[in-house]
Amino acid sequence: MKRAIIVANWKMHKTQLEAKAFLEEMAKMDLPSTKEVWIAPSYTSISVLEEMRKNLNLSILIGAQNVNEHNLGAFTGEISAAQLSDAGAKFVIIGHSERRHIYLESDAMIEKKIAQALNESMIPLLCVGETEDQRAQGVTKKILSFQIRGALGSFSKEDLQSLVVAYEPVWAIGTGKIATPEIAEEAHQMIKKDLANMFGEEFTETVPVLYGGSVKAESMQNLMKQRNINGVLVGGASLAPDTFQKIINY
Ligand code: PGA
Repeated sequence: MKRAIIVANWKMHKTQLEAKAFLEEMAKMDLPSTKEVWIAPSYTSISVLEEMRKNLNLSILIGAQNVNEHNLGAFTGEISAAQLSDAGAKFVIIGHSERRHIYLESDAMIEKKIAQALNESMIPLLCVGETEDQRAQGVTKKILSFQIRGALGSFSKEDLQSLVVAYEPVWAIGTGKIATPEIAEEAHQMIKKDLANMFGEEFTETVPVLYGGSVKAESMQNLMKQRNINGVLVGGASLAPDTFQKIINY
């Protein structure tokens, strides 16, 4: 059966108290067993939510929004994969466009971050996506290939058994301008083709590719009907329990 992974990326929102209140609301909901719900809060809420999730027996994965590319050392203000895993993170978002553009993360750095996540047995959720200009110039396919190859080129398929990829067109993130299901599906096919060229068809079939960028409940049905869309990464609409629950119950 096709996987349906729904990931909340809270970015720099919510105190511990607010994060806990959100999870309390989620606990009141019947989580559909066919859908996988993941939440990436701020670092400070990871252990709090993981503890609460265990106590409430909720089948939700708690993860992180970023990880440092080194395993430890003098990197003031940074956080390591071992520290995230210790806090209870089961997955980590890597190479989000906000990290690439605001904090100038390169593909080489992203590749190292994936290695760090894998070392700690956390699921790497690799984000790729083109800017508006790149799409207008007709280089979307090339950009996605660069990003996929740059991030994954040094790994074997055995290393990447848990890999999840998210297609996040930069022009759709936080803009309210969602990609049409056809545009998203076309980009997902490009990503799958690159993965297949690198790791073979059989492996590629097992890699979920999520769509992210202005996702709302209304867009879910048509997005999820596409063959190569295995879920969504949600920013703004994941902040309130009711809008997030509507997305889960599409
Ligand atoms: P958005 O963010 O849903 O607010 O567009 C998506 C993301 O950045 O992952």
